[in-house]
Order: sequence, then structure tokens, then C-alpha cells
Amino acid sequence: MAQERTLSIIKPDAVAKNAVGDIISRFEKAGLQVVACKMVNLSKDKAEGFYAEHSERPFFNDLVSFMTSGPVVVQVLEGDNAIAKNRELMGATDPKKAEAGTIRADFATSIDANAVHGSDAPESAQREVAYFFSDEEICPRG
Ligand code: PPS
Repeated sequence: MAQERTLSIIKPDAVAKNAVGDIISRFEKAGLQVVACKMVNLSKDKAEGFYAEHSERPFFNDLVSFMTSGPVVVQVLEGDNAIAKNRELMGATDPKKAEAGTIRADFATSIDANAVHGSDAPESAQREVAYFFSDEEICPRG
């Protein structure tokens, strides 16, 4: 299987619920390694840039305002099939549709406060990782 990197964000709702450790523990138990991690308050510009591809969607302003409402934990996860594995652990975007036992089923409140973000493809993963981390900030363990 392919060794991949993916960008994960623990969103303000999950940070406010004190669920950071629980969520990271799920990644680690599933065999993903945290190779970079930081807690940040996103500026409006940074959040708008991150979600630029959704700028025409009706929920864009709500999404940016939610993502800037409190600190987030941004991390790079590495492992076999990391992109798909992370999305499987996250569950569906809408927590009402998320499978039992997934992060969103357990921690998300609604489609707009849905606990986590994960890159959806190799191209977006590469772009998103570089959007938040320099090469020096990523610490693969070989
Ligand atoms: S996905 O999983 O990226 O394909 O989902 P998508 O439906 O394209 O949604 C893109 C991001 O927008 C968020 N979203 C919303 N935010 C606020 N309100 C509403 N109604 C809403 N619908 C979708 C969704 O959580 C995705 O954010 P990320 O951070 O990528 O998970």
C-alpha cells in the first residue's frame, strides 16, 4: 500500500469539547503517525484561502466564520493509505449520515460544526499540507 501524507484539522467545536486527545488517539490506533502538529487561531484570510475552492458555495461565509471562531489543531498524518484511512475514521461530512464509531458520529454537532477536516485526494493533500507546514516542520520517523 502507498505511504501517504494527509492534512487533518481538528475544528473549533471539537477543540472546545476537549476532544483533541481522543481524536488524535484514534488516528494513532489506526496506524497513522502524527508527523507535524500545531494549534492555531486561523485568521479570516487564512481560512478563506484554505477553502477558496468553495468560495461560491452558499455556506462559504458560515464555514469561514466557524473555522475562525476558536483554535484549531492542524496536523499532518502519515501512513499506508493515509488519505482514505483518515476519511474513513472521520465519517460522512453530515454527522447524521456518519457511521457509528466514526469521529463525526461521536463528536460532530451538525454539518457546519463537524469536528474534523481531512484532505480528499493526493493533490489536495499535497496543497493543504504545504498551506500549513514548511518541510522543516514535518518530522517523519523513517
Ligand atoms: S466534502 O467532504 O469536502 O466533499 O464536503 P463538501 O460538501 O464539499 O463540503 C466542503 C466543506 O464545507 C463544509 N460544509 C459546510 N459548512 C457549513 N455549512 C454547511 N451547510 C456545509 N456543508 C458543507 C464541509 O464540512 C466541508 O468542510 P471540510 O473542512 O472540508 O470538512
